[in-house]
Amino acid sequence: MFASGQGSNFEALAAAASRDELGGRIVALLCDQPGAPVLERARRHGIEALTPPTGAFKSRLGDEAPWLSALRERQVDVVLLAGFMRRLHATLLAPFAGRMLNIHPSLLPAFPGLDAIGQAWRHGARVTGCTVHLVEDALDNGPIVAQAAVELRDGDTLGSLETRIHEAEHALYPVSVRRFLTERWRVDGRRLVFGEGEGLILPETEAAHG
Ligand code: GRF
Repeated sequence: MFASGQGSNFEALAAAASRDELGGRIVALLCDQPGAPVLERARRHGIEALTPPTGAFKSRLGDEAPWLSALRERQVDVVLLAGFMRRLHATLLAPFAGRMLNIHPSLLPAFPGLDAIGQAWRHGARVTGCTVHLVEDALDNGPIVAQAAVELRDGDTLGSLETRIHEAEHALYPVSVRRFLTERWRVDGRRLVFGEGEGLILPETEAAHG
């Protein structure tokens, strides 16, 4: 998993994994912020926590190669982004095409990018929510695995809306990962269709490792 901050989604996924409800095992947490609370959460769950070098940029990794090597060394099959605050590029995206998921706190394609909950709030949206999607080389794009809607209530504040969206995320992400790992699915244009196709396809060399 890749995360940068609080790690409440990491926590939800790690808890689901420890109940055997994720459909897979979390091999490692890779984090770009050495002081991030998510690192401590990983250690508490007994999950290896790594902080590979980030380079000088804030919004991307200077060199993605050490991050890719960390994944390859551990024979990671699928990458889950959960509040990872840097854009990824071809070095990481190409080898994990069709095998990398992200969660975004809006109903995409509405409100992509930073501060999606604030964007929805300031826009006066009546319904917003969260989206789990396959990661492609475009911001908050890629076929949608699942979405959950969250209605704005009279009397809501930005804070109360944030709380409900995070609750929706913590319910949606583990269930979506389980379906993605264990069910059949295929991508048809922009649409991810469950119940058809092969489901997750691992490259032969990595599949050989199980
Ligand atoms: C979540 O709202 C997620 O959708 C977004 O970043 C936030 C991360 O929160 N991509 P946390 O670190 O999982 O608590």
